[in-house]
Parts: sequence; C-alpha cells; structure tokens
Amino acid sequence: MEYNHFMPTRVISKKDAVRDFDFSKLGKRAILVTGKTGAVKSGALADVTERLEACGIEYCIFNEIEENPSIESCVKAADAARSFGADVMIAIGGGSAMDAAKAAAVFATNDFADPYEIYVSIPRRALPLVVVGTTSGTGSEVTAVSVITASGKDGERFKKSLKSPRIYPLYALVDPKYTYKLPWNITLSTALDVVSHAIESLYSPKAGEISLIYAYEGLKRAWSAIKKAHWQTFVEFRDITPDVRDELSCASIIAGMAINLTGTGFAHAISYPLSVNKYVPHGLACAYSLVPYLKHNRGEDERRDKMFEQAVGYSFEEFYEDMQKLLPDAPSLSYAEIDSFTELTATSASLKNSISPLSGTGVEKLYLAMHK
Ligand SMILES: [Fe+2]
Repeated sequence: MEYNHFMPTRVISKKDAVRDFDFSKLGKRAILVTGKTGAVKSGALADVTERLEACGIEYCIFNEIEENPSIESCVKAADAARSFGADVMIAIGGGSAMDAAKAAAVFATNDFADPYEIYVSIPRRALPLVVVGTTSGTGSEVTAVSVITASGKDGERFKKSLKSPRIYPLYALVDPKYTYKLPWNITLSTALDVVSHAIESLYSPKAGEISLIYAYEGLKRAWSAIKKAHWQTFVEFRDITPDVRDELSCASIIAGMAINLTGTGFAHAISYPLSVNKYVPHGLACAYSLVPYLKHNRGEDERRDKMFEQAVGYSFEEFYEDMQKLLPDAPSLSYAEIDSFTELTATSASLKNSISPLSGTGVEKLYLAMHK
C-alpha cells in the first residue's frame, strides 16, 4: 500500500473552540486578517477579540481582504503586521481570508524585492498563523496551499497557487456555529467546493491509501449533508439544522486533507477564470465542470468508480441528475472569453492531475458548453 502523509496543523473542532483557546502561548501582539463582512456577521470576530482581551493580547484588525484576494492585499496586510509589531496572525473568514493570511504571514517575515518571489522560495519562517473558518468549504485550514490573484504583463488577472510547507497554519479553530446563519447560496457554493475537492482527489493520480480514505469520507458526508440541507430549505422551508451544518464543517476539513495530499484537478483549473472574470463563487465555478470531470475519468479505475458510487449512495447517472437540480445556470461566455479563459488555463498543472488528463482542446470544449 502506498501513501505519504504530512499535515502539521493542529485542528481543534468543538463548540467554543475560540473562546476556550489560550492565545497567550503564541505571542503578545496579534493582527487579525479578515474581509469586510463574514468575520463580523458570523460572530467569529467578536469571539476572537473578546478572547484576546481576556488573554491580555493587544491586537489590530486588517479587514481589507477581498474575494479572490490579490497579492497586493496580502502585501498590505503584511505591512500592517510589521508596523503593529505583530508576533501572531489570526485569519477569520472563508478561503479568501485564510489564503490571503497565509501569504501575508510570509510577507511579514521575508524581505522580497518583488512580491512574486514568494512563488520561488520562502527563506524565512512565516508569522505563526491561527485560522478561524466562517464557511464550510475551502479546506484551507489544513492545506499548504494559498490561491492568490496575480497580475500578468498585460494587466490580465489570474489565480496562482502558492504551495509551501511554510504556509501551514499552526492552529485551525473550527466551530461550525459560525456557519449556522449562512444563506443558501453561500452554503451551496461552499458545500460544492467540498464535493469538488473530494471528487478531484479521488481521481487524482497522486492518490494513495490515506488520501482515498479522506476523499471517500469527505464526499460521503458532504453529499449527504447537501441533500439534507436542500430538503430542509426548499421542501420543509426551515433553517438548515445544526447537525447538517456540523457535518458539512467536518466534511470540509476531511476533503481539505484529501487535496492537501493530492492537489485539485481540472474542475478547479477551469473555475479560476470564471471566478476572477465572471465573479462566479468559487465552489459553483468548480461544480460546473464536475459532471464532465466524472464522465472524463469514469471507467479508468474500477475501484475508484465503486468508491464514488458508494460514497454518494447511488449511480453516476443519479448523481448527474441531482447535480443538475442543485446548480443554477452556468454563466454565459462569449467566444472572446472562451479563447482567453482557455489560454489562461492551458498551463495549469491541475489539467494533468486526474487519472485521465485533460488536453487544451478539452478545456475549450468545457468553456464552449457555457456559450449561449
Ligand atoms: Fe476549492
């Protein structure tokens, strides 16, 4: 049996994980890195600040992280950390806040002549990072990856993954209560991100015994929870129950550990231009390519096909039908957009990260399916 496992983040998932955490062991001055709304609305920011005060830690708040965070925002957050003299960074939010903080924690301790040097090598250890998630989807809590929006020579914007063992959070404090009030659209998109992570990891050529267990378990929990959440919202007309939210939270961490071992596949590669240029939420943008992804890989490995059907609880065909019911209409793309998105995606390593790799023509076909 083959596997190769490393994940150094201590994950503490429980009720009041933040309120019970002793931040004083990490430093005396903290910078909180967040977006404008999620950290406040979820109640996580209030819990963190209250706890920091109780622990006698001074803090400042940098709340300028946008969705699909830019490298410039990460540098700005790092500058704020330096001028405050922060010795610990705390990210509060979804994938954007966490990914931005991972890069900012590196910028805060390394002197790069050009910020893009971060992609080449990271000489010095980053600021210790604690992450507090407010959505169930990204899995960024447990990965050595940060996806940042960068600028090309002609000003084009594209997502670029930074991967380094230097950017693992030191602690992930997971309390699903922060997700209890999320509206359906965010719940759906983030949950579909979990499903995408699990499926893309399941069919990765880098999969080993441990990542397959994570992928299977993440998919099983996430898919069953999405269906329950959908039923509660649209048939029973009530709020999604805490047990379903808790299940989604756990699934997101498990699927995060799966992609930490294998990376993501072409559904993620295809998603990036849709998010950066068409403002499609990340999980949805990935999910539009999930059925084609499965059709492309199905039949390549009998064991994985069986694991897939066991995890979702029925056949591929039934899964395709349910995905269609869950997904809103895909964005419509012009021919110019299809050309440009195909070019942006052409060099992505994720295209090859499935047991049946995808060619450039395959990418174009997937975008063409979104042309109306
Ligand atoms: Fe993702």
